[in-house]
Amino acid sequence: MKENIIVLAVIFAVIAGGCSENKKTGVEASFGEGNMMAKKILVAYGSVSGSTAETAVFIGKRLSEKGLQADVKPVEKIKSIEGYDGVIIGSSIMMGKMKQSVVKFVEAKKDALLKKPVAFFLVCLTMKDDTPENRKIASGYLDPAKAVVKPVGEGLFPGRVNYKTIPFPFNILTLLPAFKKAVPEGDYRDWKKVEKWVDEITTKF
Ligand SMILES: Cc1cc2nc3c(=O)[nH]c(=O)nc-3n(C[C@H](O)[C@H](O)[C@H](O)COP(=O)(O)O)c2cc1C
Repeated sequence: MKENIIVLAVIFAVIAGGCSENKKTGVEASFGEGNMMAKKILVAYGSVSGSTAETAVFIGKRLSEKGLQADVKPVEKIKSIEGYDGVIIGSSIMMGKMKQSVVKFVEAKKDALLKKPVAFFLVCLTMKDDTPENRKIASGYLDPAKAVVKPVGEGLFPGRVNYKTIPFPFNILTLLPAFKKAVPEGDYRDWKKVEKWVDEITTKF
């Protein structure tokens, strides 16, 4: 009986595809506003437990250090992408999938996105070990977005797993020993890697 409940919960978690925003996953920020003549980049993201949101903020800040303006927003809060010279779109990866709201955002804004340089990034556990095999797997996670818009670049970054910050329904998975083994807790983020990627992508906008 208990096992059936856990299996049902896991199925629910897989199909849920998104969770409500909170302070950590709904953060908004602007950088480089003083630089009125600079190109303006939108960093749109979807995060389940906060690390993609933090990565998006880091990207926005780095863009401003490279002389650009940047607005960082969760996709759920973005109505229009008009007025931006480029868009960077990031997603957390759960159960092998991009956040559903991010894929929906890319599909909904397809026409406008096709007229601008667009880059994608993801934050996941697979990139904990940066091997050619893992890069291929991680790059494949972006396929639903890449099927809509061909990006000028993609950033594949390792993330953070903290069982205490995983929201419902995904937190139910932490009851499973197999899940704990496959998705071990740890902060695997590599800010130097993100910074290097931003510095490279800046020239594409
Ligand atoms: C329930 C759950 C499922 C996950 N599934 C995957 C996965 O399929 N592939 C992967 O590479 N990482 C996976 N991860 C790791 C997350 O992508 C990583 O924790 C990431 O930093 C989460 O981003 P967020 O904090 O913005 O939600 C999973 C993590 C959790 C908690």
